[in-house]
Amino acid sequence: MTADPRLDGRAVRRIVYTEAEIATRVRELGDEITAWYPDGDLLVLGLLKGSFIFLSDLVRKIRRPLHVDFLVAASYGDAMVSSGTVRLVYDPETGLEGKHILLVEDVVDSGRTLNHLMSLLTERRPHSLEICAFLHKHIAVNLSHPTKFVGFAAPNEFLVGYGLDHAESFRHLPYIASLQ
Ligand code: IMP
Ligand code: MG
Repeated sequence: MTADPRLDGRAVRRIVYTEAEIATRVRELGDEITAWYPDGDLLVLGLLKGSFIFLSDLVRKIRRPLHVDFLVAASYGDAMVSSGTVRLVYDPETGLEGKHILLVEDVVDSGRTLNHLMSLLTERRPHSLEICAFLHKHIAVNLSHPTKFVGFAAPNEFLVGYGLDHAESFRHLPYIASLQ
């Protein structure tokens, strides 16, 4: 398939979600989130690096006041299989206590990253704590917290684009592709 110059010669098996499909779904998610939150401070916390494109599109579709901050957790390294180790490398500057926290993730795969982060964030006594994941592979067992907002129920394949990488490549693809 495809001679997209962004792929640097790598073949993609197929395009899973097109740019147009993503735009439609992100707009819907923005509406869901806008409708769901009551008054109060909303802090949208993006988990870097994977969420950076999704988060920037999403917050522009949420029509209420909000603040944005980021978390950096290191997990996978360059492997295509989860190592299960999660390290917090950047902690948000903003205080979380008493706020509505919406944690934004690129993809829920094994769920290990999320379980670790949710227990860590709960200790900071937010008013509410929910997850918005662009993709959810629905293979995780023992998820400590349901994912309230999900963009797409994704196939169990290794996916790249729209922020998701393989060894730091392909984050800038405007679509989601399955890697060969
Ligand atoms: P988990 O802890 O296994 O749920 O995986 C969390 C992280 O692994 C995600 O935030 C991604 O950075 C990465 N990841 C999981 N699945 C994929 C994939 O299909 N493509 C690219 N990165 C992935
Ligand atoms: Mg990654």
